[in-house]
Amino acid sequence: MTSENIKLDIDYVRSQFPAFKDPLSKDWSFFENAGGSYVPKNVIDKLTDFMTATKVQPYAEYPMSKIAGENMDKATRLFAKMINAKNNEILIGGSTSINLYVLSNALKHIINPGDEVIVTNQDHEANISPWRRLKDYGANIVEWKFNSDDHELKISDLDGLINSKTKILAVTHCSNIVGSVNNLKEISELAHKNNIIVIGDGVSYAPHGFPNVKELGVDFYTFSLYKTYGPHLALLYGKEDILKNLPNQNHEFLNGQFPYTINPGGPNHEELVSLIGIYEYFEGLYHHHFDNHKLNIIEKISKLNQIISEHEEYICNPILNYIDSREDLNLIGKNKITNKDRAPTVSFYSKSKSSKEISQKLQKNKIATRNDNFYAWRCLKYLGIDTNDGVVRLSMTHYNNMEDTNRVLKALSKI
Ligand SMILES: Cc1ncc(COP(=O)(O)O)c(C=O)c1O
Repeated sequence: MTSENIKLDIDYVRSQFPAFKDPLSKDWSFFENAGGSYVPKNVIDKLTDFMTATKVQPYAEYPMSKIAGENMDKATRLFAKMINAKNNEILIGGSTSINLYVLSNALKHIINPGDEVIVTNQDHEANISPWRRLKDYGANIVEWKFNSDDHELKISDLDGLINSKTKILAVTHCSNIVGSVNNLKEISELAHKNNIIVIGDGVSYAPHGFPNVKELGVDFYTFSLYKTYGPHLALLYGKEDILKNLPNQNHEFLNGQFPYTINPGGPNHEELVSLIGIYEYFEGLYHHHFDNHKLNIIEKISKLNQIISEHEEYICNPILNYIDSREDLNLIGKNKITNKDRAPTVSFYSKSKSSKEISQKLQKNKIATRNDNFYAWRCLKYLGIDTNDGVVRLSMTHYNNMEDTNRVLKALSKI
């Protein structure tokens, strides 16, 4: 419970998401949130409004164009505020994979032959392969492996890998398979003592609470907006001091105009504007639950994160507990969420049935899920799991409810 004894009003939350009323989706329990989330009405409205009268080339002086440009700037400004970044530290691109590829291309210039780059085997490939490619520029790639017993990345192991040649560390804030939250603050502090640039992948973390990037201390942080209740875009944060010194990868005349120098071309305009709807959704959620209107958005997000994580623990722990208790199923990662140390992303596989077979049975019970390696194939390979069949993943977020949980428990008990 929060100090104010406030619980997430799940009926209010679900009333904001049209998918829970739509004939196509309303009867399903949605467990594919780590793949991509539903969007609240505010996001759909912002998209429709933009497309109605302002879908013109922005930043001219006539009103349709002027308003289009103003709303594009507003969306970036609001998102920067929500994660405690400056406006010029935010870049919106098509996906996290693209953003990280573009970033690695810019950072290759800091690599000298013999330098070391640390990647994990717990990450999604999006935060591994662009950094592994730096071997083409002379880097030696060092792998920080997770512990095969508890599936956790140990900071003591990282300490043993760092040396004076280490330049870059790419690590996930939360794995899309294991679900544990890695302590990015502690990791960044250790890395920075050794002048290492830290790139944190927040894709599986941010849907459960937007981070305060300054508190985390990372140099770069990324997440996919289509998993945080928005359209198919992704955000990349970078510290101003580093961004402004990166080479210009955009048109020559834009020299010096960071962060536009990082990414050749801008984001999809209408989708960018619809991000305002995410901000409005979280403002509305805050005001529905709390009385203090004087807080800034970071303080509001921090209060919301608390009630959201309590709700996620409440609905996910029974599933973790049940799967862990089954002799025939292997649960990956921790068997309980405590104080937001784990996302409600539950990956498992069976000793006797294929993951495909299990996911099909769950879908027959109107549970939207799938089996896959979810592009964390190094993680699955390390665990000895067939990367074609993969794991079954049940991923929840704050709009899931106890009915969803009970449906999964009932369906699993029949398998
Ligand atoms: C943890 C993690 N990182 C990165 C990505 C890649 O994101 P995108 O699809 O935006 O490229 C994903 C996608 O599922 C992910 O789960």
